[in-house]
Amino acid sequence: MKVLVIGGGGREHAICWALGRSARVTEVVCAPGNAGIAGSASGSGKPVRCVPVDVGDLAAMVAVVEAERPGLTVVGPELPLSLGVVDELMRRGFRVFGPTKAAAQLETSKSFAKQFMQRHGIPTAAHAVCTSLDEVREELPRFAIPVVVKADGLAAGKGVVICQTRLQAEKAAAEMFSGALLGAAESEVVIEEFLEGEEVSFFALCDGKHAVALAAAQDHKRVGEGDTGPNTGGMGAYTGDGLLSAPMEQWLLKNVAQQVVDEMALEGAAFHGILFCGMMMVAQRDGTTLSPQRASSLGTPTLPMVLEFNTRFGDPETQAILVRLENDILEIFDAAIDGTADRLAIRMRPGASVCVIAASGGYPGKYASGLPIAGLDSVLDPEVVVFHSGTALKDGTMVTAGGRVLGVTAVSRASVRAPGSASGPGSKGGSALWDALGKAYGALQGISFEGMQFRGDIGWRALRDGL
Ligand code: AMP
Ligand code: GLY
Repeated sequence: MKVLVIGGGGREHAICWALGRSARVTEVVCAPGNAGIAGSASGSGKPVRCVPVDVGDLAAMVAVVEAERPGLTVVGPELPLSLGVVDELMRRGFRVFGPTKAAAQLETSKSFAKQFMQRHGIPTAAHAVCTSLDEVREELPRFAIPVVVKADGLAAGKGVVICQTRLQAEKAAAEMFSGALLGAAESEVVIEEFLEGEEVSFFALCDGKHAVALAAAQDHKRVGEGDTGPNTGGMGAYTGDGLLSAPMEQWLLKNVAQQVVDEMALEGAAFHGILFCGMMMVAQRDGTTLSPQRASSLGTPTLPMVLEFNTRFGDPETQAILVRLENDILEIFDAAIDGTADRLAIRMRPGASVCVIAASGGYPGKYASGLPIAGLDSVLDPEVVVFHSGTALKDGTMVTAGGRVLGVTAVSRASVRAPGSASGPGSKGGSALWDALGKAYGALQGISFEGMQFRGDIGWRALRDGL
């Protein structure tokens, strides 16, 4: 079967890579893809073919699908979902993986998502939806400081401001309404209670009726080590057995993901695709925030709260998840489309995985592009995959072409952790996560481009907790 993937970043590279390993896939096309995706051999031994398209142009995407006539189209990023690409392709009789425009509102409108959660008792921070600055001024005194101000629509990570004073909150809201912050004026701004805890990304596969747990991961959104500096699209992610306990996973599945699927169906917008639950795990003891693992080992209750929903795979979480997925990824897409997810057994390779992002110097601010990348062929470990987020070919040389450039991804060999023996990357008898980290950082040592930056502390929370 020919499969077409819409998008062109590291997440889409990982999806193409996983599709290439499927025995049923004969051809993978990525629109627009990138130079690294185009060069990568799929499992069927054929290189992925990239075709140009603007993912902000609905008619152009439909034209590519009409021209290629794939057996399945997989939509990666949120922008095409927000434009209704799934609805339009289904109307034309194509088979497509992803939620409709109405279902994707869980991500594309924060006020929709917050009101939905409130209607259905899904745990989330207290909030107020405001349509004017006067309303913001009226609502703010009800919230403690710090307080969170969020733009309603898609904002690529730039629409959330954590404010230390009410005056700062008012200013942030004013900038959202005027368009000074995001370029386009917002008609709605959400004021939200600040939550303190540990963030976990929980991914559920949904088929309109059922939600099944796919994986949990932890992203690292800040650019600097120790979670400092401005927010980015994500500087690295890891997955590991034990990131969430089995009872916690079941709780999230029942009280968040399945609840969303049931209520969306009742509201006439059946949800098919990936529901990415951005959770804040609130657990405190003696005024200190505890990780879910630590809280569970101390018997401290954890209160999981939804920070946000995304209606697609995460980037870079997907790179870390898919290198551990043992199912044929087509089974997953088919189950979501056909309503058979309840019959699917998700199998993940035991252990851990990590994706470390190599970004351009200056990112998430201004950065240069077109810089040659050296050492890509130095990565020989079969358990390391270098996914390309933003690369291009210039005169036959692979060069940088984005803020996030590469996602160096590794899976652990060690399937069983020797408790308490972890002492450093690659240490003998160390944990699965140390093993994966040792491979990823080892591979990164051989790769370079001018100004390259990466965080050296991906997974630090899990290592602290002995995962
Ligand atoms: P969102 O786009 O809603 O996921 O927000 C982006 C980031 O802002 C999250 O990953 C959190 O780190 C932070 N954030 C969002 N909402 C809150 C909140 N209510 N309390 C604390 N941090 C938040
Ligand atoms: N890694 C966060 C996201 O994909 O939105």
